[in-house]
Amino acid sequence: MAAILLYSTACLRLLLAHRRRWPLLFFLICLFFFLSVSGYFEEFLSAILSVFYFTPSRVSSPRAQTVAIPPFLLSPASACSSPPFLLILVTSAPSHRDRRDAIRQTWGSLSSATASASLTLFMLAVPKSPEERAALMHEAVTHRDIIQTNFTDSYRNLTLKTITGLTWALDKCRGARYVLKTDDDVFVNTVFLTQFLRAESGLQYMGRVHWRVSPYREPDHRHYISPELYAGNYFPPYCSGTGYILSHEAAGLIMEQLRSGPWPTVEDVYVGILARAAGIAPRHVAKIAGSSSVPHNVCCYRTMFTSHGMTPKGMQEAWNMLKAAGDHWCPSGVLFYCKLFSQSVDDGGKGVH
Ligand SMILES: *[C@@H]1O[C@H](CO)[C@@H](O)[C@H](O)[C@H]1NC(C)=O
Ligand SMILES: *[C@@H]1O[C@H](CO)[C@@H](O)[C@H](O)[C@H]1NC(C)=O
Repeated sequence: MAAILLYSTACLRLLLAHRRRWPLLFFLICLFFFLSVSGYFEEFLSAILSVFYFTPSRVSSPRAQTVAIPPFLLSPASACSSPPFLLILVTSAPSHRDRRDAIRQTWGSLSSATASASLTLFMLAVPKSPEERAALMHEAVTHRDIIQTNFTDSYRNLTLKTITGLTWALDKCRGARYVLKTDDDVFVNTVFLTQFLRAESGLQYMGRVHWRVSPYREPDHRHYISPELYAGNYFPPYCSGTGYILSHEAAGLIMEQLRSGPWPTVEDVYVGILARAAGIAPRHVAKIAGSSSVPHNVCCYRTMFTSHGMTPKGMQEAWNMLKAAGDHWCPSGVLFYCKLFSQSVDDGGKGVH
């Protein structure tokens, strides 16, 4: 809020200096530009959204799940024996060992986990080749941070991966207040994120909201959704799969809406559809980058909760910068800067948009 004031007064002063007849109009344009770039405008819009949702008055423990999902092959449930505040579930592919290692050495490390009361686990299924299966088993024994479910690990099965991850969170990690679902090319500032979450309460479904996305109707598109699967012209607003947060109760209510498959292959869209059915409106959080990558700058990593499209090397650099910076001061308008210069990242087939 301080940053908004700062920018708007700067704009106003500049315009008044020219003694034009329409400084107010310019001022409003400036303000609107600032509000939309920084994401505050969308935060405001999403706050209104909940008015149109039939929000459940009952917050109960979810009823037993009726949809059968494949069994867990690896389930590091002991990791939750003292429940974290924030459970972070990272969808990863078998071949992304380097990305998982980068996360383990940076924001998913023990020091980060301790400082933020978070627990980071990777979600995988069964690799196609026996060599990959053996390598994954070895990795799981070494790190004990892999949830593996018995289905074929493939891009088209990503929705199933998310669903099994949320099921795991609800069954095996009940004490976790929040679940963050993210991908293995996302940098997460766990400390700042948990600080933010500690001030929140109630049913929460937070992230980078996508507002009016139409289903892809061309059968060879990799995000194709048949009219039988979803009939509407637009999906309900949903949070980008690169990083969305569900409070425990919200995850329970969303999973109550689960129906047997087939499901849309785009997992974030499907979570949005389930949330709509559960009456839980997505809430836009400007500091969650969604599909974009923020400028490679320490103040952006300090301000934003996530940045997408990170290479393992970039992740290590971001982490080192953060550690070296300590309590380094960042200007108040830095969110505006980070958003203005953030770059949209092509998901490269990972199934996020
Ligand atoms: C996993 O699935 C395969 C093939 O679907 C099956 O043969 C195997 O028994 C399953 N394993 C477990 C532990 O459920
Ligand atoms: C998804 O997983 C199921 C269960 O293992 C498998 O039968 C199916 O072929 C997988 N889908 C794709 C597209 O790989």
